[in-house]
Amino acid sequence: MANIPSFTLNDGTKIPALGMGCWMGSPGGSERVYQMCLEALKCGYRHFDTAAGYGNEVEVGRAIRDSGIPRDEIYLTTKLLNSGHHRVKEAFEESLNKLDVDYIDLYLMHWPQALVDGKVLGPEEHPTSIETWKAMEQLLQTGKVKTIGVSNFSIKTLEHLLPHCEIIPATNQVELHPCLPQADLKAYCEAKNILLTAYSPLGGQGTFFAEDATVQGLARKLNASPAQIVISWAVQRGTIAIPKSENKERMRTNMTLVSLSAEDMKVLDTLHQQTGMHKSLLPFHDESFGVYGWTYEQLGWNMVLGGVVPAA
Ligand SMILES: NC(=O)c1ccc[n+]([C@@H]2O[C@H](COP(=O)([O-])OP(=O)(O)OC[C@H]3O[C@@H](n4cnc5c(N)ncnc54)[C@H](OP(=O)(O)O)[C@@H]3O)[C@@H](O)[C@H]2O)c1
Repeated sequence: MANIPSFTLNDGTKIPALGMGCWMGSPGGSERVYQMCLEALKCGYRHFDTAAGYGNEVEVGRAIRDSGIPRDEIYLTTKLLNSGHHRVKEAFEESLNKLDVDYIDLYLMHWPQALVDGKVLGPEEHPTSIETWKAMEQLLQTGKVKTIGVSNFSIKTLEHLLPHCEIIPATNQVELHPCLPQADLKAYCEAKNILLTAYSPLGGQGTFFAEDATVQGLARKLNASPAQIVISWAVQRGTIAIPKSENKERMRTNMTLVSLSAEDMKVLDTLHQQTGMHKSLLPFHDESFGVYGWTYEQLGWNMVLGGVVPAA
């Protein structure tokens, strides 16, 4: 089995530094997700990242059970729907039932914005992210979830939330790769003892960094794939990485970390400084203002149209 390090979260629990992302590009994916998770378990993955919104908790849970691997050897994350903020307990139980497992290792607030009756609420409307978090804190008392965290939070939305937390989120899962290294957020989260999880560590598609001359150069030098280079960079800088792959060969290489020198790390740390490279690589940006009904300003994301980070 590959030698995947673990990180310790602020509640003392351990999380494998590398996991399998279970977003299939659109909700569902049923049999494909089941096969992907089974294969990943065979190949040594012990950490799975799904969400109620991915529409595939049933298949992820079934693969875990069918693998025969003891539940306590697997780390399982799922996430609260935006439309579940006003009914956290029920939404959590629905996820638990769909996964059909006794407990969830990590439950994340998927986005800070709530959606009620099809309408996205503003940051001050009820339930606010603070109220949603308080309901998530209550879940810990059930013993059915070990750790709670957030996703897509910025320094701004964390500054709003943290003063009201009895439990500090263990992780903040955000888009993170060499085009969006999130250095300020990383430093802020480290100071608050919150570990960052890198979602879309390959940029959401395997081709972007595979076609980048800088990453290609490092890959050649280290006899590794471009994906291994960017995944290893994420883990080596102390963030959890959750690349998704349904391809046996790619899932195997993705979990084989390579050691990057300080110089190699610096090359990747500064890749976003090349012209036009500091940006989100995901398609969820609204043409006019932000993401999923909040402006970049409400999200606290330092971005302009299309997810581009403006020059300082
Ligand atoms: N919290 C959130 O809001 C949020 C948002 C986005 C994603 N996520 C999580 O993060 C996970 C990963 O992000 P992602 O799925 O968006 O993108 P990703 O992991 O950055 O990239 C996945 C894509 O890269 C391809 N790929 C994988 N390994 C490769 C390799 N070695 N060489 C070339 N191509 C490769 C995959 O295709 P094949 O399958 O064909 O290999 C797939 O098309 C998701 O699955 C999800 O669990 C969370």
